Amino acid sequence: MRLFLDTANIDEIREINRWGVLSGVTTNPSLVAKQNDDPERVWKEILSEVEGDISLETTELEADAMYEQGVGLAQMAPNAVVKVPMTPDGLTAGKRLMKDGFKINVTLVFSPAQAILAAEIGAYIVSPFIGRIDDMAGDGMHALRQICEIYEVQGYETNVLAASLRHPMHVVEAGLCGADIATMPFAVFKQLVKHPLTDIGLEKFLGDWKSLQERKEGA
Ligand code: G3P
Repeated sequence: MRLFLDTANIDEIREINRWGVLSGVTTNPSLVAKQNDDPERVWKEILSEVEGDISLETTELEADAMYEQGVGLAQMAPNAVVKVPMTPDGLTAGKRLMKDGFKINVTLVFSPAQAILAAEIGAYIVSPFIGRIDDMAGDGMHALRQICEIYEVQGYETNVLAASLRHPMHVVEAGLCGADIATMPFAVFKQLVKHPLTDIGLEKFLGDWKSLQERKEGA
């Protein structure tokens, strides 16, 4: 399962990229707006920092306008992936973009039925929003499991990207479901690496090593 960061903050991206585990980045208009900067400058910096897929989201609602905006976003760099919303216009624009050789990510997906539509237009990525389904007292992980199973049974090649992940167990469960990609905020990425037994174990190893050095110096 590939791991993506869900952020538009370049410092967060640089920090996780140093770990050697970052395969891509997902952005959305809210995340870009949080940077309070020129969106093009923000996107370009991310596109050149990370080699993998970088999702940039369209904001036009009508199919032709969305397509034109999508072409502009896709042409920013070879690793750009154009996000289109799960709407009839998003499907129309997305199918046209894929047909013209651009990669798309169908976003704002909340049900297996929507995920089938994304696969049927040949999308490169589909993004079910797990946490937001849970927020509505639904079962996000159940929806993800169904989507992965349908894609497997039907032989769909669209990559399933588990989005709106809120904690490490969401990431673990997404892996068990068979998601191709998990995208998560910086805070969740940082939680993935932490375990108190790692800290305790390291402290003990270093303590024992230090006493050996001290014993050698005293001999
Ligand atoms: O970028 C899409 C998705 O991951 C958003 O997550 O936490 O705003 O529901 P969240």
